[in-house]
Amino acid sequence: MTLEQVSKLESKLLLSTYDRYPVLLRKGRGVYIYDDQGRRYLDLLSGIGVNALGYGHPAITKTIARQSRLLVHTSNLFYHEYQARLAAALTRISGLDRAFFTNSGTEAWEGALKVARAYASENSGNGREPKWRILALEHAFHGRTFGSLATTHKEKYRAPFAPVVPGVQFVKFNDIEDLERNFDDSVCAIGFEFIQGEGGIRPVSQGFAETAHKLARKHNALLIADEIQSGMGRTGRWFAYQHYGILPDLVTVAKPLAGGLPLGALLVSEKVASCMHPGMHGTTFGGGPLACAVALQLITLLERGKVLKHVQEVGKYLIEGLKELQSKYEVIHEIRGLGLMIGVEVESADLAKAIVKQMLERGVVLNRTDETVVRFLPPYIIKKQHVDAALRQLEQVLQRNLVVGAGKAVDRKGR
Ligand SMILES: Cc1ncc(COP(=O)(O)O)c(C=O)c1O
Repeated sequence: MTLEQVSKLESKLLLSTYDRYPVLLRKGRGVYIYDDQGRRYLDLLSGIGVNALGYGHPAITKTIARQSRLLVHTSNLFYHEYQARLAAALTRISGLDRAFFTNSGTEAWEGALKVARAYASENSGNGREPKWRILALEHAFHGRTFGSLATTHKEKYRAPFAPVVPGVQFVKFNDIEDLERNFDDSVCAIGFEFIQGEGGIRPVSQGFAETAHKLARKHNALLIADEIQSGMGRTGRWFAYQHYGILPDLVTVAKPLAGGLPLGALLVSEKVASCMHPGMHGTTFGGGPLACAVALQLITLLERGKVLKHVQEVGKYLIEGLKELQSKYEVIHEIRGLGLMIGVEVESADLAKAIVKQMLERGVVLNRTDETVVRFLPPYIIKKQHVDAALRQLEQVLQRNLVVGAGKAVDRKGR
């Protein structure tokens, strides 16, 4: 089928929830994806932070082939060997104690919210004082199901589905006073991304994170870290909270966890785990043998190949290159991020849109988030030569769109 045929059919048959790029993908190899015409794209987005080891990694495809011949799915009524082994690996790298496996990020976050409520109802003093408020942050994104949606900040995501789950309050981003004002004994949890993803690649400040941790302890509330985008090595450490020296009570993981297969996890401390009992929570597909075997393989590959160190180095190189562009082009307002989770805040939403579109035309995949931020989430296997190629293209795109240094988005004809 051609792109035209597919897009026509989709427009008739699918719920129109996505605004797709006009590209029909056929395959991926390494850091590149290829369309139906055989055109090659350097993928600096990794399927929105999923394909950490790029495409067609031999050890991943081998594990998929081997395990798919043995056992793809079994219900959670039976044991298979990979959930426990994967939980052992995840608890080792995270510092938490137990895992619950899910199919997606939003399902992991839903689980975290449920556990927080269950923990509060089992542990809240005399049981008379209500303790079910949840604090989330301005710009937060935690997913599209109802609980996750209630903690997702953008009004446009929530409004059409109101009323969402009650009890959520948003705290101003990095505003310690606002945090202190809103925190009291009625709060059962505060949850946030230590580095916000969809919200524009915004790291929370050390002071804000420490205050949230301290207030959670003081009010017997739980600290939940959403590591769905930032976790599993994306920032150069296993988890973004490890840059802050803070251990949350609950951590959610998903995107890159199973090398492109759908898998998420909720990691919890022993203290918290004691509030969950058989029958209180569950899922049909979460933690299947195929996805878990691949996730284990992924962790082994990341450790053996010293990939996190590489993420730090190449991430630093990319940030330096972007900062160099920033010094030449006033329309770049800020470069934010850590490791290979990087946002370039530009002057306007139109410019961000133009950059993403024109980079795609030049064979480089990026995306735009929070209106004015061009986002980089490349595969961890990206090399400096790929960074150089992308930065060259980006500079040409900036030159094509702008009068250098004038800070004005005009085209070459000065319109
Ligand atoms: C930080 C964060 N939390 C939650 C989610 C939701 O994950 P999923 O799309 O797998 O449900 C996302 C997805 O982008 C995310 O970036």
